[in-house]
Amino acid sequence: MKFDKFESLHQISQAAAEILVKAADMAIKKNGRFTVALTGGSSPVELYKMLAKEPYSSLVNWEKVYVFWGDERWVPLEDERSNARMAFETLLNHVPIPKEQIYPMWSEEKTPQEFAADYAKQLQQVLGEKGAFDLILLGMGDDGHTASLFPQTSVLEERHAWVQAYYLKPQQMHRITLTAPLINRATEIVFLVHGENKAPALREVLQGESNPKQYPAQLIAPLAGEVTWLVDRKAAAELKDL
Ligand code: 6PG
Repeated sequence: MKFDKFESLHQISQAAAEILVKAADMAIKKNGRFTVALTGGSSPVELYKMLAKEPYSSLVNWEKVYVFWGDERWVPLEDERSNARMAFETLLNHVPIPKEQIYPMWSEEKTPQEFAADYAKQLQQVLGEKGAFDLILLGMGDDGHTASLFPQTSVLEERHAWVQAYYLKPQQMHRITLTAPLINRATEIVFLVHGENKAPALREVLQGESNPKQYPAQLIAPLAGEVTWLVDRKAAAELKDL
């Protein structure tokens, strides 16, 4: 695990932009394309805006980029809560990624469960059997959830499926998410975590006893890849020796 502490979300975003540029460059040189899963929530907004502008925008060969999502609120793309909508507005509408290489987690015609099975097939077509993303961006909630892997949900027990959809009662909405077994196949995983409200959960996730049912971000442990935590001073406030 790598851990880097910053003063501000701006600095976290810069560090993440640099990681993404490097990961894209390496993957494109090696495999002719770059596969990435985006995170939702508020943490990546500044990163996405940064990537859409110079100097970063011309450092990525966008035509070779394949974009998926780590998770989504099951709402239409026009809905303000849509993670895809946010990514389009801040980044994807501003860079030349071919439309057919962008895979939002949403369909008018399907149930969330049907769509989860379809999404897994689409992933398999692009990633192959190995299912290794070049890069997955993740956030973490103040309850220790990541992607839509929420505390005490049965998706945490998933061992095989790559994608799952389920009804998240406290939020009264369906969620769709990549599962931990798929996320952990990635070459690189980067968490973006900022703000004092995340400090207790971050302490439990990184330095507490193993309790992934309560702190699902503990499930993220890449098999062969690397995980990097980009954290601001406030979120890191309760960590010992980091
Ligand atoms: C979502 C997310 C979720 C998010 C965390 C952190 O759709 O809600 O993808 O896992 O990353 O809740 O959210 P913030 O960045 O808003 O703190």
